[in-house]
Amino acid sequence: EKGNYRHYMQKEIFEQPTVVAQTLGSYLRRDEVSVALPQFDFDISSIKRVTIVACGTSFYAGMVAKYWFEQFARVPVDIDVASEFRYREPVLEDGGLALFISQSGETADTLAALRHCKEKGQTIAVVVNVPTSTMAREADLLLPTHAGPEIGVASTKAFTCQLAVLAALAAHMAVKKGLMSREQEHEVVTHLLEAPACLNSALDHDDDIAAMAHLIAPARDVLYLGRGQDYPLALEGALKLKEISYIHAEGYASGEMKHGPIALIDDDVPVIVLAPSGPLFEKSISNMEEVRARGGKIVLISDAKGLEEAGEGCMATIEMPRVHPLIAPLVYAIPVQLLAYHVACVKGTDVDQPRNLAKSVTVE
Ligand code: F6R
Repeated sequence: EKGNYRHYMQKEIFEQPTVVAQTLGSYLRRDEVSVALPQFDFDISSIKRVTIVACGTSFYAGMVAKYWFEQFARVPVDIDVASEFRYREPVLEDGGLALFISQSGETADTLAALRHCKEKGQTIAVVVNVPTSTMAREADLLLPTHAGPEIGVASTKAFTCQLAVLAALAAHMAVKKGLMSREQEHEVVTHLLEAPACLNSALDHDDDIAAMAHLIAPARDVLYLGRGQDYPLALEGALKLKEISYIHAEGYASGEMKHGPIALIDDDVPVIVLAPSGPLFEKSISNMEEVRARGGKIVLISDAKGLEEAGEGCMATIEMPRVHPLIAPLVYAIPVQLLAYHVACVKGTDVDQPRNLAKSVTVE
């Protein structure tokens, strides 16, 4: 079943262009270049607040989606990890949409949060990969990802498919609220439809990433930095390294470095910077320079333009295709996943069955 791949995780990383295209296919209309969501019986334009709840990698997809809901649909978004959400007496007013994101659809904390929100009268939307799961059955609005079965314990293809659905949902809400013109919708959909090809170009750099994994493998600690929509990707990169390579890693918002973590910097702590060229690039690079000035070793992940401007003096660079900021979180998921994968291979850990982890966490 693994075909030519050594591990399920590797196979699932490489499936992403296909499964993201498959997922987008059921939320976008290619012929009309428009967003098309499944039928549902509430008025999405009247939603006053979105509450996103999830765990782990699915939570990071939700963090990216918060940027999109706020930017496109101008709706306030509240987001929390499921294990904290229920216990902080969240304020859930009428007219709220509670959005749950889960690969398995069975994660106990997320399911408990869903039931709590249902009791509080929220409309329940679920982005889920297993269509027969408990969460899928309890949703008012079911938004399936079409990633196919994910076997590797570390989530990869489910994440990028979640992002695809969430981008479509945010755009749909913006259209229904009259905040996204036909031209803007056309533009967003065009960029989303470019995503699978961009994921393929990102995957073309697999060999480069494999070749530099030995630089990261000996590290005891790694920092990942990102800004804006790519900040959650820094968190995801750190989670992947922890999970399968057993390296202590932390994700930080680039601008937050100087408020503490910069004290950790020395030449034993690689700092991986996610900085696609775009509106936040200059800021990210000045944060990177703060690290470099303190002797930090940097791995810069950017596009050709970004690497040309700022790649010099880095310990390593990873080139990504130049993409619209909207799809950068999907594309930059690839190097983050591949890096953790190849580091784990160098270290010889059990990639598909990391210690202490289960695919579906059904205890609270
Ligand atoms: C990370 C990972 C976990 C899951 C989390 C939520 O690679 O796999 O962090 O993302 O346990 O699981 P689901 O999405 O099934 O609710």
